[in-house]
Amino acid sequence: MKKRLTIYTATLTAFIIFGAFFLTPTNAQNSSQNTKSDDQKIQKQAQAIFKPLAETMPASEANPTTAEKVRLGKKLYYDPRLSLSGVISCNTCHNLATYGSDNVETSLGHNFQTGGRNAPTVLNAGTHIAQFWDGREPDLEGQAKGPVLNPLEMAMPDSELVIQRLSSIPEYREEFAVVFEGDEPVNYDNVANAIAAFERTLVTPSRFDDYLNGNNNALTPEEKEGLQLFMTKACITCHNGAGVGGSMYQKFGVVKPYKNQEDLGRYKITNKEADKYVFKVPSLRNITRTYPYFHDGQVWDIREAVYIMGESQLGMQLSDEEISNIVIFLDSLTGEIPEDALKLPVLPPSTAETSKPKI
Ligand code: HEC
Ligand code: HEC
Repeated sequence: MKKRLTIYTATLTAFIIFGAFFLTPTNAQNSSQNTKSDDQKIQKQAQAIFKPLAETMPASEANPTTAEKVRLGKKLYYDPRLSLSGVISCNTCHNLATYGSDNVETSLGHNFQTGGRNAPTVLNAGTHIAQFWDGREPDLEGQAKGPVLNPLEMAMPDSELVIQRLSSIPEYREEFAVVFEGDEPVNYDNVANAIAAFERTLVTPSRFDDYLNGNNNALTPEEKEGLQLFMTKACITCHNGAGVGGSMYQKFGVVKPYKNQEDLGRYKITNKEADKYVFKVPSLRNITRTYPYFHDGQVWDIREAVYIMGESQLGMQLSDEEISNIVIFLDSLTGEIPEDALKLPVLPPSTAETSKPKI
């Protein structure tokens, strides 16, 4: 275990030294006056490290996206009847009007119970290597089955009740039959399949993608300065790729332990010593909108989150000015939520057979 950690730390150190050399800031203090060729160099470096968000997520072979499936998935996403109380929907904790998160430290679930972790945004989640802070579900389909039956969240006692509710509503029966094959199309797997197909449409390209696609003027000089710092300070060791994160697991507290040591992260799943305090590196897309920060939602200020990252992950104390520059760059990652996802669907009414809400 110790050996793995040493190798990891050595690799990180090597990257910082090598990376700092390779990505020498051309004029870090004043890059707003960068020459055109410096400007292009920064853009090339960025293109090598990040990727534009594709127009749609990587498709799932097992669960191909169709327009009807997305439409059904959107209704289910917004339908509070997927919860025992009849008042909590996916959108309660992943509110698309607030960038797919709930902006509270830890979400309020069934009977006002709170869980131990902050709700990450659903936007672009399909681009991540796996789902949840600890990556315990490999894909969106597997993930969607969790919250409905979680007693702290939507609190359905079993999947049969979910299916009872949905199949008591004729419109849902018809829509499932159009979208899915088989004798009993209204089943729990298909509920998850439809929701996942809807979630795959939740991609939020921003000006940063225009920049990566070749338009150097898509970012302001200040944003480019922040981007350059984000690269030279080695944030990119962990936050890279299309999601500016979401592509790997890393320890939180590589150099300095985080103040809250309660959550052991991936250790709870793998039972490996080396996985203590290891979490999925979060995507930083839309990050200035999805406060509060970290798995416990204990940090409200993005500036403080960036400072903590410098200290705990890289062993450096970022100055106020450096933090301001990085935050200006991070704000350029705020993208547009697809308009159709934001339009509330009209949900089909319950019938006399629909099981009643309970608290
Ligand atoms: C009561 C609040 C609540 C409800 C309701 C809820 N979630 Fe979540 N969601 C969370 C929390 C908290 C997490 C993080 C839990 C963890 O990592 O252990 C999460 C994680 C996720 C993730 C993983 C994102 C990532 O970056 O890893 C996705 C996707 C997601 N939820 C989708 C859904 C869907 C779809 C529904 C409805 C079926 C739903 N959630 C209902 C609170 C909620
Ligand atoms: C060694 C890997 C690593 C490095 C380097 C790193 N991060 Fe992180 N970052 C993480 C991990 C892991 C988390 C999740 C921590 C948690 O809450 O458990 C995270 C979380 C964050 C968050 C909060 C995300 C959220 O959704 O709450 C921000 C903001 C952030 N990082 C920015 C940065 C910046 C800016 C830098 C460079 C100064 C940086 N990171 C360097 C691994 C890293």
